[in-house]
Amino acid sequence: MSESNEIKTLRERLDFIGIDAESRGLLAELRTTIAGSIGSALDHFYKKASTNAHTRRFFADERHIESAKQRQMRHWDNIAKGTFDETYVQGVSEVGKVHARLGLEPRWYIGGYALILEQLIGQIVERRWPSRFGRRGSEQLSREIAVVAKAALMDMDYAISVYLETLEAERKAVADAKAEADQEQKAALKAFAAAFKQLQDGDLRARVDHGLPGDFAGMAADYNNAVAQLETAVGDVASSITSIRTGLGEINTASNDLAHRTEQQAASLEETVAALGEVTQAVNETAEGAGKAQQVASGAR
Ligand code: HEM
Repeated sequence: MSESNEIKTLRERLDFIGIDAESRGLLAELRTTIAGSIGSALDHFYKKASTNAHTRRFFADERHIESAKQRQMRHWDNIAKGTFDETYVQGVSEVGKVHARLGLEPRWYIGGYALILEQLIGQIVERRWPSRFGRRGSEQLSREIAVVAKAALMDMDYAISVYLETLEAERKAVADAKAEADQEQKAALKAFAAAFKQLQDGDLRARVDHGLPGDFAGMAADYNNAVAQLETAVGDVASSITSIRTGLGEINTASNDLAHRTEQQAASLEETVAALGEVTQAVNETAEGAGKAQQVASGAR
């Protein structure tokens, strides 16, 4: 089975700080000493945590403190085993989740380690001190180691707090920018929706307010331009239709005139034909009369 991601990142941490097999062995050798010291070290810590103005609210009563202490003791034993395996990962993850749920700021959590470490270091040095003589030397050494450890932890806590505050400020800036963009988008959508509705109702004067924020101002200008062009085009079409209508009326009048004139011409043609008929008849009659007259004249000769 492949190594879990959590174990992999834990190994990277251990490797970075140099907790190798040898160091783990050292820890395991100290396991009994730690087990013998952790109880009183934690009493010292909980005394401070349950009276400090910032941390006392986390504990309801003595039983609550005792329960937290028992669980913390089990966790320290997990550390002292030096195995740093899945069980350790599970335990330390639970510790993180519990304190996050409580809303305990890292500064108090890290400060807690400073207090516990101070006690553990003192007791380890004392228990491991080679001779009964020179006790004062052991006290001096443990105080020196403890103050360095505490200063380092406090320094780490301070920088982590700044780090978290910076991240929080960045997160807030992003959230604020998003909220502002959402608002702008909402306002733009409202303005465009109103203009579209006006357009849908056939009102080509529909325009979007130029004063829209950010990129939406450009979109509004483009939209307004397009609708203005549409308005002009539709205006042109309307005036073309009017002139077509006028033209058609004129054509109609002209064709009526033409029809009338044709009718008149046909009538006068008819009259002409009739008149011609009459003339022809008269001519015929005249010719006939002339013929007869000629006959009469020749007969008379
Ligand atoms: C001022 C600092 C701290 C405060 C105020 C605090 C407070 C608490 C409280 C109130 C609980 C009990 C949660 C519940 O109601 O079940 C708890 C659980 C615990 N705390 Fe702390 N704690 C502090 C620091 C630490 C430190 C430095 C350690 C070091 C290992 C630690 C280890 C644990 C563990 C192992 C548990 C049990 C987690 C579980 O439920 O598995 N705490 N803590």
